Amino acid sequence: MTQQILLTGPVLRFDGNPMLMPWADAVRIDTEGGVLLEGDRIVQVGAANALARTYPKADRVRYGADHLICPGFVDAHVHYPQTAIIASWGKRLIDWLNDYTFPEEMRLSDPDYADIVAARYLDLTIAHGTTTVASYCTTHPHSADALFRAAAMCNQRVVAGKTCMDRNAPEGLHDTAQSAYDDSKALIERWHGNGRASYAITPRFTPTSTPDQLAALGALWAEHPSCLMQTHLSEQTDEIAWVRDLCPDTRDYLDTYEQHGLIGERALYGHAIHLEQREVDRIAETGAALVHCPTSNTFIGSGLFDMAGLRARRIPIGLASDTGGGSSFSMLRTMAAAYEIGQLRGTPLHAAELIWLATAGSARSLRLNDVIGSVSDGYEADLTVLNLASTPAIEQRAAQATNHWESLFATIMMGDDRAVADVWIAGVRHV
Ligand code: GUN
Ligand code: ZN
Repeated sequence: MTQQILLTGPVLRFDGNPMLMPWADAVRIDTEGGVLLEGDRIVQVGAANALARTYPKADRVRYGADHLICPGFVDAHVHYPQTAIIASWGKRLIDWLNDYTFPEEMRLSDPDYADIVAARYLDLTIAHGTTTVASYCTTHPHSADALFRAAAMCNQRVVAGKTCMDRNAPEGLHDTAQSAYDDSKALIERWHGNGRASYAITPRFTPTSTPDQLAALGALWAEHPSCLMQTHLSEQTDEIAWVRDLCPDTRDYLDTYEQHGLIGERALYGHAIHLEQREVDRIAETGAALVHCPTSNTFIGSGLFDMAGLRARRIPIGLASDTGGGSSFSMLRTMAAAYEIGQLRGTPLHAAELIWLATAGSARSLRLNDVIGSVSDGYEADLTVLNLASTPAIEQRAAQATNHWESLFATIMMGDDRAVADVWIAGVRHV
């Protein structure tokens, strides 16, 4: 029999969705909690004492009262190839792509470099408590193989896709409508549903895909409807104006995707800041998900995501670092930025809502919420254990806290990788 492991300490539990109901009814912290792992699964979650009595032979890992056992963080929109150019200074989106991003993505034409960056990126995410990412790769198919292979080495759940671009990018990064279809299809056959990997069909965004390419990828998605489809939508106003020039016969930015079948329940639109009413209505109607990228939206100066308005429409919303447009690998920092943007819009999020967005909310946007994103019986054993007193500055604030929510909020606002005490991936301890 596989050895059982009993983790004890404060445990973050979800009873519902705090974006749709009062947070206090949806999220709780069991201060004397226990989580029983067996193999790659969470077998049972409950009171530490009761679990210890029922499973006396389980190995014990005890976390103190200043720790919190959480679901592993889920980063719903990243570009792993941009790892080495994170925090590049002072450009708007299109200049930033041309001056920093595309030259770096060209370097991944070397498969050895792609392997190095993929491994480095996953190491960084695990150190920051992120157990699942949904990543764009480069246009080179081997860049997707590199990430899937590196993730499989530590049995890490990953969603990824070869980025497709057949215009408005350097020649060296161009594919074609046909090669994007063929290469994506081969990658789907190789990786989708292989272990913990799943595939996202990935047109980068309308400015870099011709209508022919969007149509080819729409057809591919129709043939493989269990894949996700990830792309960018309405991130900056000058990008939207460019899309309007490129596609004068469409109703709006979303329509440039919709016309080619690139909308539906498993669609994932990153940023989605400057939406028209029709776009919001269509997204709500079709069940597509949006991904909020707050550190990126402030760093590249894109704008303030309308969390309150979009959650009121019951649109699934994930949270993401958008590495390397975002300025941090940390989902703690990402939650802090989401809080600050909420403040600027007059609708601040509670710590319970922030941590739900970074775990179950992102998992829901990736349609993986029945297997990851929650510390629940039968879920995959991806866990991040936070130390809520990880630095002197945070410790002295936590000492003054009257409950776990106050401590957690201080770690969200001030914490980084030092706050990540342990990471469990598929039942294996990693930090
Ligand atoms: N829009 C198209 N490509 C990108 C990218 O790589 N990063 C961001 N932030 N926006 C994009
Ligand atoms: Zn992006």
